[in-house]
Amino acid sequence: MRLRSVELEVPDRATAARFFVGTWGLLDAGERNGTSYLRGTEDLPYVISLTQAATPGVSAVTFSGTRPEILKIRKRAAASGARLGAIRDFDEPGGATGFSVEGPEGHVFRFVTDKRRAKKLRPDRDRPLQVTHVVLNARDREACTRFAVEVLGFKLSDRTGFMNFVRCDRVHHAIAYAKGDNSLLNHIAFEMTDIDAVMRGIGRLKDAGFETFWGPGRHGPGNNVFAYFVAPFGAAIEYTAEVERVASSYKVGKPEDWTWPAKRTDHWGVSERAHPHGSDFAFRPLSG
Ligand SMILES: [Fe+2]
Repeated sequence: MRLRSVELEVPDRATAARFFVGTWGLLDAGERNGTSYLRGTEDLPYVISLTQAATPGVSAVTFSGTRPEILKIRKRAAASGARLGAIRDFDEPGGATGFSVEGPEGHVFRFVTDKRRAKKLRPDRDRPLQVTHVVLNARDREACTRFAVEVLGFKLSDRTGFMNFVRCDRVHHAIAYAKGDNSLLNHIAFEMTDIDAVMRGIGRLKDAGFETFWGPGRHGPGNNVFAYFVAPFGAAIEYTAEVERVASSYKVGKPEDWTWPAKRTDHWGVSERAHPHGSDFAFRPLSG
């Protein structure tokens, strides 16, 4: 199982697509039925879809796996009583078949099997490889984590005072739940080739008028380098690199295992607390 894409809805699709391609470094993967598809250089058909809507929203966070993998999740989801969509074909790059399921706070996850694998492109320091994690705000992060582990079959990697990190493959986390008073999208992280690519990204974004609101720095859980920005359509997005790959023997960290230098919020002691930013990106109720 692997995190594949995030399906976004935005009030100005053309501007969002222009930013993602012209500034952020994604590649145009085509347009279908009024939705724009954008890809990275890894072998995934796309990593972000953009559909025009009256208000910002997320229709799903999508994972791809084999048919037996996704059917196993479906069986557990049905048994748990979670809201579950029908199995169907999706008209999108990759030609996916799968279904959506709603978590306890309305976060929608889609599990698909891609018919066609996309061609892996030459890695490029100025382009993301793929989406590597999505952070979701949660009122009850323990209940959400239980759902991810018991129903979706993810593994808990770490807990801090604010976040629970879960994984679906060797990448330290695909989803993290952040303590909050809402269930909105917190941010989407794009994996870059290396730390230089993250730093070059900071420069490119600065030239385009976007300063980091947190970072650069190095996280605790996942040990990844980070830089966060607010995209012109209002979502928080992250360039990251060197995300830890873990083995099944990885020991689950507790809040007391994660401390930072005084007055800092990263391992290097470079970054102070993130400037607060709101998120308008609510999950749409599951639709079939
Ligand atoms: Fe992140």
